Amino acid sequence: MRLSVMGCGYLGAVHAACMADFGHEVIGVDVDERKIADLTRAKAPFFEPGLPELLQRAMDSGRLSFTTDVAALAHDGAAPTVHFICVGTPQRAGEFAADTTYVDAAVRALLPYLRPGDLVVGKSTVPVGTAARLAAMISEAVPGAMLAWNPEFLREGHAVQDTQRPDRIVYGLPADPDEAARTKALLDEVYANPIATGTIPVLTSDYATAELVKTAANAFLATKISFINAMAEVCEAAGADVSALAAAIGHDERIGPKFLGAGLGFGGGCLPKDIRAFMARAGELGADQALTFLREVDAINMRRRTRMVDLAREVLHGTFLGRKVAVLGAAFKPESDDIRDSPALNVAAQIRLQGAEVVVTDPAALENARRAWPDLHYEDKVEVACDGADVVLLLTEWKQYKAIDPAQLAGIVRARNVLDGRNALDPQAWRAAGWTYRALGRPRV
Ligand code: UDX
Repeated sequence: MRLSVMGCGYLGAVHAACMADFGHEVIGVDVDERKIADLTRAKAPFFEPGLPELLQRAMDSGRLSFTTDVAALAHDGAAPTVHFICVGTPQRAGEFAADTTYVDAAVRALLPYLRPGDLVVGKSTVPVGTAARLAAMISEAVPGAMLAWNPEFLREGHAVQDTQRPDRIVYGLPADPDEAARTKALLDEVYANPIATGTIPVLTSDYATAELVKTAANAFLATKISFINAMAEVCEAAGADVSALAAAIGHDERIGPKFLGAGLGFGGGCLPKDIRAFMARAGELGADQALTFLREVDAINMRRRTRMVDLAREVLHGTFLGRKVAVLGAAFKPESDDIRDSPALNVAAQIRLQGAEVVVTDPAALENARRAWPDLHYEDKVEVACDGADVVLLLTEWKQYKAIDPAQLAGIVRARNVLDGRNALDPQAWRAAGWTYRALGRPRV
């Protein structure tokens, strides 16, 4: 099939490469010339495990190309083209609502190249109601062209496998039964490879439900994390251990063990802005009361960052002045170089503002961190970052950091204080090596 992918960021670049790997002819389009120049050389413009190899394979096959020129989508072939919309929907400045400008612009840019029978497929996370609005725009400009909403659930760091083998595929289809059938047939052909496994559920719905599936899933995940972090606050007050609590409640199949990692809370380009956009949209629809709990989910999450700063200050006997703080981790989570709304960088910046010398290290995100937070001090190596530190903060749980030998690091720092912001280290091993180990939601000992 002939496919195009509008927007080649974390979502679009992976989607384009995976679709070409499935055997489709794919053109990726983005306005960012640097990104397109990288991708054209099969270079991944961001850190994503497995993507460089996949890109190389797809480029070598001759089925994948990238361009900044949307006119490359002009074609006179008889078969319909499927166009994916993978552009971002960031939070609007000073507001909770999502900015759908890029989605609108991408669809508008496509219109001159759309032909009857072509299908536009929205993958971006949008406020419910966007698909219906775009469908009207498309059918008015190009009668016979269609729209589907096909939300994407990929996690950064696992994006390739999540795209190749998603745990479900959701199609939001047009109301007209004939159009819905044609749309579904095209999508089934696009996803023939994963569907052939026979194990991936394909769920169909109207546009609004498909849009909401995505926001509801993210709201649930955010709620689960804030729930366990609320328990961490209670555990701290009661002298209990949130890690043991999470393990025990996770054995209940109805609760499940995943997304119960207490610590610094969620960040990144999705969960924080998606729950806010969801609240804003519910408000516009007159259903704001239904989502007031998400305000609390957001507040619990943001409180984790302040609590971490307070704990660091407490360990340093009440002041950051003249103290050196080593921060392990800048990315919002491991296996990613994404620093959007990174809890780690937020904590590092707060501590710096309060007078400490802060040195941040990260295996993949330093370049992005330097660009966004130029005032912080960065070092490539853990040993250099921790040299002479009064406290070491683990804020992103990279496996490299979990594997640190506490006895070895003890010889480098000025004081053996470690704060585990992700409940990722073994308290016993660190304490045995002479460290004062503290974590959010765990007893002091
Ligand atoms: C998320 C959703 O998982 C994905 O389905 C959706 O498509 C986009 O948003 P992502 O932002 O890549 O994906 O990261 P995810 O792995 O979900 O982690 C989000 C944040 O939650 C990270 O900051 C992570 O550190 C934090 N987290 C996750 C916890 O604090 N505790 C946990 O137990 C799990």
